[in-house]
Amino acid sequence: MANSTSGDSVTDRLVRVLSTFTPTRTVQTAAEIGRRADLPSSTAHRLVGELVDSGLLERDDDRRIRIGVKLWELATRSSHALRLRQAAMPSMERVQARIREHTQLAILEQDEALFLERLSGPESGSNVTRIAGRLPLHAASSGLVLLAFGDRELRERILAGPLVRTAAETLTDPAALRRKLAEVAALGYAVAPGYIEAVSTGVAVPVRDETGTVVAALSVVLRRDAVIEPALVELHRAAREIGAALGYRR
Ligand code: PHB
Repeated sequence: MANSTSGDSVTDRLVRVLSTFTPTRTVQTAAEIGRRADLPSSTAHRLVGELVDSGLLERDDDRRIRIGVKLWELATRSSHALRLRQAAMPSMERVQARIREHTQLAILEQDEALFLERLSGPESGSNVTRIAGRLPLHAASSGLVLLAFGDRELRERILAGPLVRTAAETLTDPAALRRKLAEVAALGYAVAPGYIEAVSTGVAVPVRDETGTVVAALSVVLRRDAVIEPALVELHRAAREIGAALGYRR
């Protein structure tokens, strides 16, 4: 697309504007968007106005801006994520009903774990994960599964750091993380006690597509001191079913 005088393309600017929205920052003024996207105020107001006209952004009664339902509609059509989520839903519902803790589905996206779905109940404990939110691969149980069963280049890129600390027990030492990933690959599941937050333990298993490739991680977030075996049994069963729904035959 055509370049502006400052050298960044229109697409760059649009992506910067849309990326100022986060799971916890869902409503902003046009001026805040401009500041966060590092755009001159007039450019920000013009771009935001055009995006509102197109329906990709929406303006509320206080003239504050949020992501438009049209953007959700387009993004939700993403065939890959939608197919995976639909294949996973029935099994995820059973895991949540039986274990009664947060049950979530994550995929690898630009070197992070992106959560496509999260089911929670009234009794579920603490959880920092959000639908359409991300966590660092080395810190979350799902991320450890995606790393352990992912490409070697991905693993080496993440091991090269930086390994950000999210809690006291996050593995930030590359050698310790390498050992953990070998263990996850050998066991076929990941347990992450206190890696994301001190009060919980993440437990995750791989989900395979029709070719046997690991395409997602299915996880539960347990209380830190919970027994993990019942959750593991449910997760493995669910992952097998989701794999079968995706056409995976063993
Ligand atoms: C995990 O997957 O390890 C995990 C995710 C969210 C939490 C805690 C643990 O809040």
